[in-house]
Amino acid sequence: MANLGPPATGNAVGEGVPDGGGATARGPGAAEGGALAAGAALAAGVPEVVEWVLGAGVHAANAQATSRTGETGESPWGSMVLRAGSELAQMTPLDQRRFLFVTGKGGVGKSTVTAALAVALAARGKRVLVTACDAKERISLLLGSDPLTPEVAELRERLWAVKLMPQVALREYGGMVLKSEIVFGAVFDNKYVRQFFAGVPGLHEWAMLGKAWFHSIEETSAGRPRFDVVIFDAPATGHGLDMLRVPKVIVDVVPPGVLRRDAERAWTMFQDPVKSGVVVVTLPEDMPTNETIELYDALQNELSLPIAALVVNGVIDEVFDEVERSRLLSDLALDRTQNGDEAIACGIRRSIRERIQAQSLSRLRALGGARVELPLLRKDAATPEAIAELSARF
Ligand SMILES: Nc1ncnc2c1ncn2[C@@H]1O[C@H](COP(=O)(O)OP(=O)(O)O)[C@@H](O)[C@H]1O
Ligand SMILES: [Mg+2]
Repeated sequence: MANLGPPATGNAVGEGVPDGGGATARGPGAAEGGALAAGAALAAGVPEVVEWVLGAGVHAANAQATSRTGETGESPWGSMVLRAGSELAQMTPLDQRRFLFVTGKGGVGKSTVTAALAVALAARGKRVLVTACDAKERISLLLGSDPLTPEVAELRERLWAVKLMPQVALREYGGMVLKSEIVFGAVFDNKYVRQFFAGVPGLHEWAMLGKAWFHSIEETSAGRPRFDVVIFDAPATGHGLDMLRVPKVIVDVVPPGVLRRDAERAWTMFQDPVKSGVVVVTLPEDMPTNETIELYDALQNELSLPIAALVVNGVIDEVFDEVERSRLLSDLALDRTQNGDEAIACGIRRSIRERIQAQSLSRLRALGGARVELPLLRKDAATPEAIAELSARF
């Protein structure tokens, strides 16, 4: 409470919203209404929240100029000084990084890869935290545990998991900023403030990503890292990329303060190839390969983020070589009424698939860097046994 001006009353924030509160109630995307709610919070005398909110509001309002400056005390999401990148990056194996962001096209196997990688790293002695941001998380199914909750839970030896829920993460962050349950409740239980938060683009993404990042630098009371690595089961490519852009945007446009300081620390760490990396998951097929190449371009050229590994999931064994495939695929005169034609038709289908895989793999291999190929399992992959089998590949 030392650095706070306490609100006049418990519900001062709500009372402070004049007629303009109606604008706030327009819901998501209402940046203007957000500014009104922020103004109301300001009137209520909660400077840290206002500073934080106004910073995000600036982002929402397309970086309109603001003259706010000055830091506001200790950061709630960590105080570690982080080093910039180094040339050692090339020599850093997957399991020495502290933050791994797993992304890729929808349904390619991100959660499967997250679970298998977590099991592999825990087996090699790492203390691993899996953070899942999908409301319908599948990590618990894959690891054979109870459903994940917003509380960090130990699932098995050296393996923890937490479900990231934006509302809960925002409350947690706000609680850490405000350092008081009463003020915290007054601000976060206020419907105008909640509606404002819902309307700030990127704030929910940052709440989840920022919380996961915080766990990656979190220390125990004995001063050692609580986890050796945090694996973030991120949303599919488009949303995953947007999520990664948020700290960069905050760094670029938000005025100095708690929010920007945390975003800067996170962004510095995400760009450090010794400490962090994106794990890109894909399938050896045309569309996922195209999307992967675009994702690499955005990560490397737009965001300058290190790629820790490419995981090509669902690779099938080659039954035919290219000469046999060509022969099968040129059999246009095939009369499908003869005995054995059905077998040949199967061979043709397999040849098409294998050829697409071979072409996709050669395009994916050309991307360079560490690559892991996972086999297509001929059984339900959503079981702890299947995850154990896949984990041996990491
Ligand atoms: N290597 C594999 N072999 C067989 N099935 C797989 C494999 N990897 C993933 N699957 C299955 O594919 C589906 C999508 O995987 P999932 O990890 O949930 O993808 P995402 O998290 O990218 O949406 C699931 O049913 C999963 O069990
Ligand atoms: Mg998933």
